[in-house]
Amino acid sequence: MAMMDNPLTVGPEPDSELVGRAQGIYASASQTEVGLLMVLNMAFTQGKYNGSSLSVLGRNSVYKRVREMPVVGGSGVFRFARGYALAETHFVNVTTAVMEYNVYVFHY
Ligand SMILES: *[C@@H]1O[C@H](CO)[C@@H](O)[C@H](O)[C@H]1NC(C)=O
Ligand SMILES: *[C@@H]1O[C@H](CO)[C@@H](O)[C@H](O)[C@H]1NC(C)=O
Repeated sequence: MAMMDNPLTVGPEPDSELVGRAQGIYASASQTEVGLLMVLNMAFTQGKYNGSSLSVLGRNSVYKRVREMPVVGGSGVFRFARGYALAETHFVNVTTAVMEYNVYVFHY
């Protein structure tokens, strides 16, 4: 089980524009493969999304190329959000992992 507080950027480069933090918990929840329980808040800090957040709760089957996880809610401009996130590994080595999230939400 691990807790994370990672930069949320527009692109994969280390100097890419910072738009928020990806904060949450992930835990190994499968006894038969590498399957994580993900509890993740995307906390935005820029522009019209500043102070708003999206909440992801789902299963991350890390060896699948594309992992789909539900977006179960949000706050601020994302109140009542429902949708899904598609996660892909962009880069990984012993010390660094860069994940790409494409997130689709309906909200009011
Ligand atoms: C985001 O909102 C916080 C709290 O209202 C404010 O202090 C900060 O300056 C804002 N940041 C930007 C980039 O607008
Ligand atoms: C992993 O990749 C990062 C970013 O390219 C690099 O800074 C770091 O030195 C790499 N770590 C190892 C152990 O190769």
